Amino acid sequence: MTQSNETRVVDARFVAGAVDTASLPPPTLLEVAFAGRSNVGKSSLLNAMMERRSLARTSNTPGCTRQLNVFEVRCADGLCVSFVDLPGYGWARRSKTERGDWQGMIEGYLRRRTGLRAVVVLVDVRRGVEEEERQLVEFVGQPREVSGARPLEVMLVATKIDKMGAAGRKPALEKVTRGAKGVGGPVIGFSAVTAEGREELWSRIRGAVL
Ligand code: GTP
Ligand code: MG
Repeated sequence: MTQSNETRVVDARFVAGAVDTASLPPPTLLEVAFAGRSNVGKSSLLNAMMERRSLARTSNTPGCTRQLNVFEVRCADGLCVSFVDLPGYGWARRSKTERGDWQGMIEGYLRRRTGLRAVVVLVDVRRGVEEEERQLVEFVGQPREVSGARPLEVMLVATKIDKMGAAGRKPALEKVTRGAKGVGGPVIGFSAVTAEGREELWSRIRGAVL
């Protein structure tokens, strides 16, 4: 199958890693952020989306991504978009203060980042939507502190779909969808290993930034 120019990435680069929102680079492109529990597969999904093996650092150890990592991507048809890999939440070994800092930073980013258009919320297909994701989605739905900004779009992705056997896939995705009721749009099943779901997610992202 020949890949369309709309999902073929011709350039992907790491722009900056910011420890707080003040050190983020100026928002020159429309932006999409990727959020989810530690170890859910955010950085792996980003690499699959960007067609780069290890541009975003991944790890077996939860808590690998500890800052806001900004990437710029250009597709073969000319579309340019900025992707932000957010540090994961729900990592028990972090101290309460660290978790508080995380929340403050992420909330400030989601509320005030100019150019941010959509938030991709990742859940492990075997785990589904839990309280943290519900809270995150609710937060994302609230009015923003960017004058004239439209509400952020939320996209829900169920990761590591390759870990399910053929028979278990459909019921697992249906379960995530049921748990995601009222949490915006259809759930996209994704695998960073097989790139399943990549085209569909790109199509949703393009819809949000065009
Ligand atoms: P933090 O940066 O700690 O928040 O984690 P993260 O959400 O960025 O997860 P990361 O991409 O580092 O992946 C965590 C682990 O899951 C790694 O060992 C990956 O290889 C594995 N993984 C990620 N996505 C997939 C997938 O689609 N399928 C399979 N089988 N493994 C995956
Ligand atoms: Mg990561």
